Amino acid sequence: MSDDFGQEQAIRKLASGKLVIASHNAGKVREIAALLGLYGIEPISAGSLDLPEPEETGTTFIANAELKAMQAADLSGLPALADDSGLCVEALGGDPGLFSARWAGPDKDFGLAMKKVWDGIEAKGPEAGHDAHFVCALALAWPDGHVEAFEGRVDGTIIWPPRGDKGFGYDPMFQPHGYDISFGEMDPDAKHAMSHRAHAFAQLVKAVF
Ligand code: IMP
Repeated sequence: MSDDFGQEQAIRKLASGKLVIASHNAGKVREIAALLGLYGIEPISAGSLDLPEPEETGTTFIANAELKAMQAADLSGLPALADDSGLCVEALGGDPGLFSARWAGPDKDFGLAMKKVWDGIEAKGPEAGHDAHFVCALALAWPDGHVEAFEGRVDGTIIWPPRGDKGFGYDPMFQPHGYDISFGEMDPDAKHAMSHRAHAFAQLVKAVF
């Protein structure tokens, strides 16, 4: 991180102790808690503190992760971690991107969201490429307003029809480069070792512990 004068600033370290996980998704909280337990961190979910979910008004993944983490740190008086993630399809100009969850509608129908992605690519014509990537931004905020952010990505290809039922969201239509199976067909441990979230976490762990 650099300051207003372009000077490199040291990344703030995270002391062991309580950390709010600023997510209302129980699966995400469990996954993050398991990862951080190794570092003497005592995770507390935002839900258990009754913290509100802020509107994701940022224009980048990092901005959204930062606003969620900063609000949780401010309201709880504890350091807080938040993430924001999504699928970016090159032929669609990066869509669904920040709107990945919203494309599934109120019923969280990812069959519908995946169809929308595929129809969008087809509408671009036979020359449209199938390149895509998942992004995960992680932000760690302290009650004094300090924030550190990290971003990971994994590149791959959009496939149709979708394959596999092991993952969630857009996993069945995403085949990472170097593999002949989709994220939906991959064992969760294998996916977690090489996903956008794994890359973002590896950066965070290296920087703040
Ligand atoms: P968030 O909870 O605002 O970060 O929403 C992220 C959305 O992006 C999720 O609802 C999923 O649709 C999609 N997404 C993010 N990461 C993944 C992944 O690893 N596999 C499949 N879909 C994902």
